[in-house]
Amino acid sequence: MKIALISDIHNGKLIEHRPGEEALGLIRDFLEVCKAEDADCIVELGDRVNNEDHEHDVLYTEEVMSLFRSSGLPVLNVIGNHDIHNIPKEEDISLLGRSAPYFYRDLEGYRLVVLDTADPIIGDCGGCLSSSQLSWLQDLLESTPDDLPVLLFSHHPLADQEQTGNPFFVNLPGEHTIADHKSISKIIERYRGKIAGAFNGHVHWNYLRYQYGIPFFSVASLTEAYPVTEHAPGRFSMLAIRDRDNMSITSEMLSPRRVLGRFDL
Ligand SMILES: [Fe+2]
Ligand SMILES: [Fe+2]
Repeated sequence: MKIALISDIHNGKLIEHRPGEEALGLIRDFLEVCKAEDADCIVELGDRVNNEDHEHDVLYTEEVMSLFRSSGLPVLNVIGNHDIHNIPKEEDISLLGRSAPYFYRDLEGYRLVVLDTADPIIGDCGGCLSSSQLSWLQDLLESTPDDLPVLLFSHHPLADQEQTGNPFFVNLPGEHTIADHKSISKIIERYRGKIAGAFNGHVHWNYLRYQYGIPFFSVASLTEAYPVTEHAPGRFSMLAIRDRDNMSITSEMLSPRRVLGRFDL
């Protein structure tokens, strides 16, 4: 199975070093790659908009979703902090064409679990998982058969990571991740035999670490152009799964088209 991972699309106007007006063109190029590479599905890891106001953010979200729908591939969308800055979460969920902020879908012998780390947002842009969501996850993992490996997807990283050298979060201490690692770590440790990997966005860079033998990988932002404000490289990743002990992930860019690296997980 091949899962195409795209994150932090930030469609809209230029904000900081994110030229949001380049986002739709980059998504079109990304969808071409998905087609050429025969991807089985797309997971979009949140922050679809460069938030402006309610009216614009709805439009920016609809533009992104209409491109994804045109791909004909299953697309799983994750909620990011910027998505619900001006749009109430219930409304954002309905723009995504579903009814729940977190859910799972079984695909090709894997259980894809989409979490909502904006439950609620902490501070300016930090994440959190509510106790009711943690109970839901625990019950889901308990009832998941051993032969259905679980892949976790979230906007914020579920495992903490070092931010030294990350210009996007150096001035936002603690907000690169979720507030309470202990609760999720306990669940992940308990069900580590069932979890094959965890993938997130939010931090705008690539990062790989292992916890309890599980790979935690951060997908870079599609439209982040730091330190300039145009010609975003269009970063994304492809997760290739032959079996749960034989997975690899790439770090790629669209403009110019490059595969920057490939990691065996
Ligand atoms: Fe972002
Ligand atoms: Fe974010």
